[in-house]
Amino acid sequence: MSESAGKTLTVAAILCGVCSVLVAGAVVVLRPRQVINQDLDQKKNILLSAGLYESQDKIDSTFNQFVQAVVIDVKTGEVQQGIEASKFSQEKADKDPQYVEDIPKSQDFATIRRRSRLQKVYLVKKDGALDQIVFHVYGKGLWSTMKGFLSVDRDGVTIRGFNYYAHGETPGLGGEIENPRWLEQWKGKKLYDDSGEYRPKTKVVKGQVNPQDPNAPYSVDGLSGATLTSNGVEGTFRYWLSDSGYKSFLGKVREGVIQ
Ligand SMILES: Cc1cc2nc3c(=O)[nH]c(=O)nc-3n(C[C@H](O)[C@H](O)[C@H](O)COP(=O)(O)O)c2cc1C
Repeated sequence: MSESAGKTLTVAAILCGVCSVLVAGAVVVLRPRQVINQDLDQKKNILLSAGLYESQDKIDSTFNQFVQAVVIDVKTGEVQQGIEASKFSQEKADKDPQYVEDIPKSQDFATIRRRSRLQKVYLVKKDGALDQIVFHVYGKGLWSTMKGFLSVDRDGVTIRGFNYYAHGETPGLGGEIENPRWLEQWKGKKLYDDSGEYRPKTKVVKGQVNPQDPNAPYSVDGLSGATLTSNGVEGTFRYWLSDSGYKSFLGKVREGVIQ
């Protein structure tokens, strides 16, 4: 059998061409399914933080029954009636110079540098009335940007649920932020104190929370061996519950303006 470098290269080139067409084709064909799955995954995480997730096959029906997405301006805390949430892309808004604002260093507790003024939030209804609100929160840990959903009661103060859906922290150390037992502790904690002043006090403490501590209603146990990730969680809360985050909106929720 005659073999030459030319033939080998031709066969290799044809093979490469066929493979690239197959891979490109798969990307194009599978893209719509990928978008559907991403959307379903997002809905699942929102339901998880609101304590409403039942099973994979009920995600869409539960979401449609209880959840209404709206777009708010975090600066004013007002719902943007002119923007239809189903057509709003948070990903695009996060890059749109019209909405993106730099966060002064002294206020950037989450180390995210900038954020969009417009944020999609989720109103969770019970018997037609507002029951809880789910927000997207994110901030830097030790290795990664940790992304999660926080659900707050209609009182604008009490945490109903919290979960992380994406991070790159070390499994067994910082990665424990996705441990359901740790996440469970957040339920019932208060984001602000009773004085009427919105003063974020949520604190990830080192070691176990002492129930006698006056700060206990605002604190959860730190993650052992992962102080830096724990600090990142605390910073994420501090930022997103500050003036520059959801504070104005939560004030309106508390006053009953948001239905
Ligand atoms: C391979 C490796 C991975 C680590 N991953 C994390 C992590 O994901 N989050 C974290 O806070 N600390 C992590 N650490 C530990 C930090 O370097 C630091 O020691 C720790 O945050 C201190 O926490 P402690 O005071 O609770 O012990 C890691 C250390 C090593 C060697």
